[in-house]
Amino acid sequence: MSAGPESLQRPVWQGHGRRIHMQEVGTRDGLQMEQAFVPTDDKIALVNALSATGLAKIEVTSFTSPTAIPALRDAEIVMREIERRPGVVYTALVPNLRGAERAIEARTDELNLVMSVSATHNIANLRMTQEQSFAALAQVVAVAQAAGVAVNVSLSCVFGCPMEGDVPEAAVLGWVQRFVDLGVGGITLCDTTGMAFPTQVAQVTAAARARWPGVDFTLHFHNTRGMGLANVLAAIDAGADRFDASLGGLGGCPYAPGASGNVCSEEIVHALGLMGYDTGVDLAALVAAAERLPELIGHDIPSQIVKAGPRLHLHPVPADFDAIRDRALQRERGGA
Ligand code: COA
Ligand code: ZN
Repeated sequence: MSAGPESLQRPVWQGHGRRIHMQEVGTRDGLQMEQAFVPTDDKIALVNALSATGLAKIEVTSFTSPTAIPALRDAEIVMREIERRPGVVYTALVPNLRGAERAIEARTDELNLVMSVSATHNIANLRMTQEQSFAALAQVVAVAQAAGVAVNVSLSCVFGCPMEGDVPEAAVLGWVQRFVDLGVGGITLCDTTGMAFPTQVAQVTAAARARWPGVDFTLHFHNTRGMGLANVLAAIDAGADRFDASLGGLGGCPYAPGASGNVCSEEIVHALGLMGYDTGVDLAALVAAAERLPELIGHDIPSQIVKAGPRLHLHPVPADFDAIRDRALQRERGGA
């Protein structure tokens, strides 16, 4: 049997209305990198605008040390004052017990805990060995469970570490197992510095889903090397249905050399919509929110959709179109 036309008819890249949950991380992963401090009221307005777009989850802020991440030193006020929409999960990044207590106090729906599957990156980012991190996070999980607050664990450098190189898949899955054993229901596989490539993503995603069908896996990609959308599609093909993405394509970890923007929310929503997936997100509303970013952060944003508009955003013909067409038609009739 020929592989050509047959394979083109395979429904691999066709959404058929399949639900994909879009999780916005721009106000955390995005703003944590910015030099400018975005005023608290503007952050709240931005989260409120995002809440109205149909996103499944919003990572509002992080409850980290204000000296480590000064851009998010207003985490409590932002988390308390946003308008909560039913159906949207408001999550926050939490590095330690202190952060968990602050987040729970501020009525955060879900704590997003973070550690790295790379020993080197864990020390650089969190100043702890992996075993110290795990012991600390196990305590945080217990506190969250006692308070009835959901927990997600984000594993950094799953697809490679900028200092160590590749991290063996068995080691990655070993960390997943340890958190699943604690009763954690959500795990995010993070490509912290854009080292993931599609075939690797498909392999790791399929392995994780096959081993823990009951766990909600999120994929978190950075577009550092231009492979972001390709990685999203490869993960979808391997069964993933939850993605982190950042408004405008902002983002990056300040403790990971070479890190740059997350995959861009409006680019992913735009592409998946064309392909027939159901993200539930209103693209126009998302783009309108992204268009306000340059004013807030003081520089241009990577978003291709803000630059070019959606695919069928049509443009007027040139002013002298009629004259050009008439000349072309004349030549055609003359047989030239
Ligand atoms: N919230 C508020 N303050 C915190 C805090 C938290 N969650 N965790 C620590 N602090 C404060 C401590 O009170 C201490 O303050 P002081 O200097 O006024 O006494 C200071 O931060 C240092 O505390 P220490 O326990 O020594 O922690 P550390 O310096 O080893 O920092 C982290 C550990 C992980 C909390 C800190 O490095 C951090 O927040 N890093 C940011 C990680 C991050 O968000 N990376 C990007 C996302 S992947
Ligand atoms: Zn990230």
